Amino acid sequence: MSSWPLYDSIGTGRPDSDMAVRRSIGLSLGADLDWPICYEELIRRLELEIQVGADRLRFDVERVTIEPFDLQQPCRYDVVLDRLTHWYHVSREWIKKSILLDDLYVLNNPWTLQSMEKQTTYCALMRLGFPVPSTWMVPPKSYDGHEDLDVTLERYARLFDLGKVGEDLGYPLFMKPYDGGAWKGVSRIENGHELQVAYEQSGSNVMHLQESVEGYDVFVRSIGIGPQVNLVRYEPDAPLHDRYKVDFDFLTPDEETYLRDQMLTINAFFGWDFNSCESLRRDGVFHPIDFANACPDSQVTSLHYHFPWTVKSLVRWTVFCAATNRPMHTKVDWQPFFDAAEVADREGMALEERVAAFGAIARKRLDAARFEDFCQEHLGALDEVALEFFGSDVAKRAVRAKVESLFPKHEHDKFTEHFWGLLEFWRKTETDRLALNG
Ligand SMILES: Nc1ncnc2c1ncn2[C@@H]1O[C@H](COP(=O)(O)OP(=O)(O)O)[C@@H](O)[C@H]1O
Ligand SMILES: [Mg+2]
Repeated sequence: MSSWPLYDSIGTGRPDSDMAVRRSIGLSLGADLDWPICYEELIRRLELEIQVGADRLRFDVERVTIEPFDLQQPCRYDVVLDRLTHWYHVSREWIKKSILLDDLYVLNNPWTLQSMEKQTTYCALMRLGFPVPSTWMVPPKSYDGHEDLDVTLERYARLFDLGKVGEDLGYPLFMKPYDGGAWKGVSRIENGHELQVAYEQSGSNVMHLQESVEGYDVFVRSIGIGPQVNLVRYEPDAPLHDRYKVDFDFLTPDEETYLRDQMLTINAFFGWDFNSCESLRRDGVFHPIDFANACPDSQVTSLHYHFPWTVKSLVRWTVFCAATNRPMHTKVDWQPFFDAAEVADREGMALEERVAAFGAIARKRLDAARFEDFCQEHLGALDEVALEFFGSDVAKRAVRAKVESLFPKHEHDKFTEHFWGLLEFWRKTETDRLALNG
């Protein structure tokens, strides 16, 4: 680690002793323990040296530290992979200044994260024609500390019949904060009485009431990293460590294509590189219910079998962004999607067809074809390197460290072995996959 001030730097794109150009990737982290260790180790083991134009590129990874910064001091990183923006303001503001002043590329765009919550995402997807369940917003039960509001509320806030909204939507329904996450304040409501009780308890939070997608037969969590998508079956009622399922062929190829296009559409539309989406399948139709989950849970203790995919995909996308100097799209550009939706409306397109049209726009925006070529040309070794790494002592220690931070002492051995067993299983299926493709 360098000495203070770490935010200060001699800048990027500098040649090292044998004239290779260094590209720096910063990890801006919270409680993350396991995936950064694995990410750093994969980058180290890859020993990348990538020729781009006249430059021979090498890659460094560093953890971003938090300290005072001059708004005009240069940024040492080309790309930052950030998991703090949505709740830690100093890091968010340092990232914003680095984009504006130093052309930093960051996963995810901090402005869009600040301004787009569930409400925005529901409205946007409704406009695009996705079957988002019916949703109402209700004014909060109480207000704290807004004296100026008294006059406004006295004059304009109409008394309303909450029970009537509930009846319009039908029971059961879900009440949840309009800008929520991590299941905070989410309740399933069976009748008018429960609705009143939940509303009383919601305090000053602004809540949505949403039609429940009842009787769904598949719950899919899609994880999107750049143009890469992983579709995982999910069981929300299982214990935390067992919600992501290890399941294959639970979707038809057409459904897979549809859900990939949906995920890429959401990410390209909002300007997110790293996000997840929850969809519930009922009568063959996928209803998206939660898709503003930028920087989703990436821990081995949640993802287990799907953990290597996530770490590898982060490696691929960040190296691609750093190597190609991917410019940050600071402009929110919804219009091409709205235009495509209009064409789809006019031509009476089926949902699959309209989502494929959005997917094509999204792939372009996410540079999917170029990314694919880049991975083939420069990251061909990643599969084998990762296969070996996820069987190593370093990987096992990373799993153990995460388990020790989450579980009581008497469960450390049991859960380390549990998650390690699932990684071993991944290595087995991955070996088969590579043999098949080889
Ligand atoms: N409309 C809905 N129909 C069925 N289940 C829902 C619905 N909305 C939420 N849920 C359930 O509640 C959980 C939490 O709600 P979600 O919208 O994902 O909030 P959060 O952003 O806090 O994760 C979901 O994972 C799902 O199991
Ligand atoms: Mg959710």
